[in-house]
Amino acid sequence: MGVRRFPEGFVWGTATSSYQIEGGRDERGDCIWDTFCRLPGKVAEGHTGDVANDHYHRYREDIALMADLGMRAYRFSICWPRVLPSGSGRPSAVGLDFYDRLVDALLAAKVQPWATLFHWDYPYELFCRGGWLNRDSADWFAEYAGVIADRLGDRVRHWMPENEPQCYIGAGHSSGEHAPGLRMGTAEIVRMIHHSLLAHGKAVQTLRARAAAKPAIGIAPVGIVSIPASDSRSDIAAARRNMFSVNDSITWNNSWYIDPMILGRYPEDGLKNYGAHLAGVMRPGDMKAIAQPLDFFGCNIYSGQTVRATRAGCEPIENEIGPALTTMSWKITPKCLYWGPRFFYERYKLPVVVTENGMANCDWVHADGKVHDPQRIDFLRRNLRELGRAIKDGIPVLGYMQWSIMDNFEWSFGYKQRFGLVYVDFATGKRIPKDSALWYKQVIASNGGNL
Ligand code: GCO
Repeated sequence: MGVRRFPEGFVWGTATSSYQIEGGRDERGDCIWDTFCRLPGKVAEGHTGDVANDHYHRYREDIALMADLGMRAYRFSICWPRVLPSGSGRPSAVGLDFYDRLVDALLAAKVQPWATLFHWDYPYELFCRGGWLNRDSADWFAEYAGVIADRLGDRVRHWMPENEPQCYIGAGHSSGEHAPGLRMGTAEIVRMIHHSLLAHGKAVQTLRARAAAKPAIGIAPVGIVSIPASDSRSDIAAARRNMFSVNDSITWNNSWYIDPMILGRYPEDGLKNYGAHLAGVMRPGDMKAIAQPLDFFGCNIYSGQTVRATRAGCEPIENEIGPALTTMSWKITPKCLYWGPRFFYERYKLPVVVTENGMANCDWVHADGKVHDPQRIDFLRRNLRELGRAIKDGIPVLGYMQWSIMDNFEWSFGYKQRFGLVYVDFATGKRIPKDSALWYKQVIASNGGNL
C-alpha cells in the first residue's frame, strides 16, 4: 500500500498538447502535421487537427471544467507556428493574444499554467529549411523561446522546452509513423537528436534570461521504464542497467537523450555504437550548452517492461497469455510509476514530476447519458498507489499530470483512441465528464487520501 496522503502542495493536474486539442487552423501558420495528415493512410480515416476539440474557441469552457474538477495545474503546449507562422521572424499578434488569454484565464481559475514549448507541431517552413537536420534549428527554437518568455514569462512559472524527443525524432524521422513521415539513417538521426538537445539547452538559457518571473524548468521525455521481476538485488540491478542502456535503438531509449541534458555527456555504451556519427556534428561547447541546470525531472510514463536478471544481463518477461491491455494494446503495469520515478531520481537527482500518465479506453455514452469508465479509474488508482509508494520510499515527486483532461487527436490513430477524463463528442464538441473525472476530483480533494 502506498502513502495514504500525498505531500502537502502536491501538484495534481492534467495534460494536453496544442495540435491535439486546439483546432483554430486558419489562425496559425502551417505545421508538419497539416501536410502529414493528408498523406494517404498515415492517419486513421484521414482525421486532422484542423478542428480537433476546438479548444482555440472553447478554452474558457475547458478551463471551467478543470477548475470544477479542482485541478491545481494544467500542462499545455504552445503551437510554435501559431506564434511564429513561418517559424521565425515576425510573431503573430493573434497567436500571442490567444496564449495571453489562455494563461490569464487559467490564473483567474487558480490553475497553474505549465507550458511545453514544443509538442511536435513543427513549423512547416522551418522543416523546408532542413528542420532538425539543420544546426540553425537550435537558434530558431531559442528565438521562439524568447518570444514566449517575453510575452508569458511574467505569469507562467513552469516550463518544459520539448515533449518526447524520442517520438518526434524516432516516429517522425526513423519509423515514419509520425510527421514528417521520414525514414532516415542513423547518421541523420544522431545529428537531429544533437540539434534538438542543443535547442533544449538554448531554450533553457533563453527562458532563464528573459522570463520576468523566475522559471522552474524541466524536461518531458518518454520515460521508458524497466520493472524488476522481483525485489531481488539482481533483478533490480538488471532492470536499472537495462533502463539506462542505449542497447540497439538510437531512437527508443532514455540515456542518449537525457544524460546530455542533465549529466552533460552522452552515455558510454551509446558512444561505442553511435559516437562516430557525432564527428562533424558536435562542436566545442555544445555539451555545456545542452546541460543547463534544471529544476525538475518531468517524464511521460504509461507502462513498463518487466525484466529479470540472467547471466548475460537481463531478459524481458513477455509470456503472459491474455495480459491486461488498454485499447492502444499497452500493458497495464502500475509498478512503472514506482520504478520509473525511483530509477530516474537515483540517476539524475532531480525532483520528479509525472508529466503524463493515463490510458486509452473503450469509452462511449451509456444509455443513462453518462460515460462509465471503471477501467480508467482502476488504472489510475493502481498507478497512483505505486507513485505514492515511491514517495513513501523517499523519492521526491512534486506532481502528477494525468493524460488527458479530454479525449483528443491521438496522432496516427486520429480520434479513434480516447484518453480523456472528459468525453468529447467530436461531431458536436459536447464535453461529458466521465466517471473517472469525478473520481479524480476526489483524489485531488483528498490529496490522494481516497486511493
Ligand atoms: C505522447 C504524447 C501525447 C500522446 C499520449 C498518448 O506521450 O505520446 O506526449 O501527445 O497523445 O502520450 O499516446
